[in-house]
Amino acid sequence: MIKKFFLLPLFFLQLFTVSKSFKSNPVIGNKFLNIMGLHVLRLIISHSIMNFRMMCLSRRIPKHLREQYYQKGYMLIEDIESEDNYNEIHKETKEIRSEIRECIQGNTLTQRIHLDKYNLSQTPAINNLIKRKDIVNLFKFAAGKNHLPLSHIQVIKSNYIKGESDPQKNLHSDTFHPTMKYWYFLENVGPNMAPFTYVKGSNKLTIKRLKWEYQKSISMDKEKTSYSQSGSFRIEEEELKYLGLPLPEEICVLKNTLVIVNTFGFHRRGDTDKKSIRSEIWGMSRTNPFNPFIGFDLKIIDALNNWGLHKLREIKDKEALKKGRYSSWHVIKTKNLYDEENRN
Ligand SMILES: [Fe+2]
Repeated sequence: MIKKFFLLPLFFLQLFTVSKSFKSNPVIGNKFLNIMGLHVLRLIISHSIMNFRMMCLSRRIPKHLREQYYQKGYMLIEDIESEDNYNEIHKETKEIRSEIRECIQGNTLTQRIHLDKYNLSQTPAINNLIKRKDIVNLFKFAAGKNHLPLSHIQVIKSNYIKGESDPQKNLHSDTFHPTMKYWYFLENVGPNMAPFTYVKGSNKLTIKRLKWEYQKSISMDKEKTSYSQSGSFRIEEEELKYLGLPLPEEICVLKNTLVIVNTFGFHRRGDTDKKSIRSEIWGMSRTNPFNPFIGFDLKIIDALNNWGLHKLREIKDKEALKKGRYSSWHVIKTKNLYDEENRN
């Protein structure tokens, strides 16, 4: 309690950052301030700034893709690479041997290889894909920032272990402001293969959405999930109609499809009742939505962001080790993403 009191200035400053947790920040989670409209004010300001930044970076984006992103909340491009390039990319994801980190959520394993400078030097076809000028322009527009996303090779293994249901399968918004994630699918993803699932148009900050967000912000004490209390609001399908939104739609895709998504919109991992694997190049970009500047196109900043991720993982590893457990994104034994044995 006393510690929290002395940290109040820091908690206050976090209002102007990506911080979103109602349970760990007593200012963001303050019921009186939220009744007075604090959460709603953060939404309105952050969305206005992000829209401005996206507009600044929209000049090089084809009109139909820009409109898809604004209207639906995502853009989808099939056959983004030639067949030869796709085959090479796919081969590299199978042949790379590098550090793999795993996150266990319910009965799902998500395993990733961070595409840092070293790993990209071993995977030239992947490097060409994620640095292709027109694709980089799309990434930057969707993120409203002149930087590259943090990218990984990712494999999602559904129903691979015994456990409760995967929390990523609950419909949710990642955070209070527009933020970008992308998937380049390496295999076809059909129904019953945990396809990415999205509520079209839920990226928009409408009056109805603002009212819903307001109600959520003032009733955190009644929230059942810690994810909502952490600022990643969960929503039930029945609530969508009150927001004037359609039901979630599974985005089933063919291999070699790129999907870039605004994950302020409601989304979840789709259902599957069988053991299934999704493999993809995946990345995200989450930047301070209160900073109105798009930033400079400098390689050093991208390098720093990747270094920062390494450091963060190391710190989390050390903290977890002290408590005698694994960090949420811990290193596993195998160096082959498609290996089904030797995880720990
Ligand atoms: Fe999410």
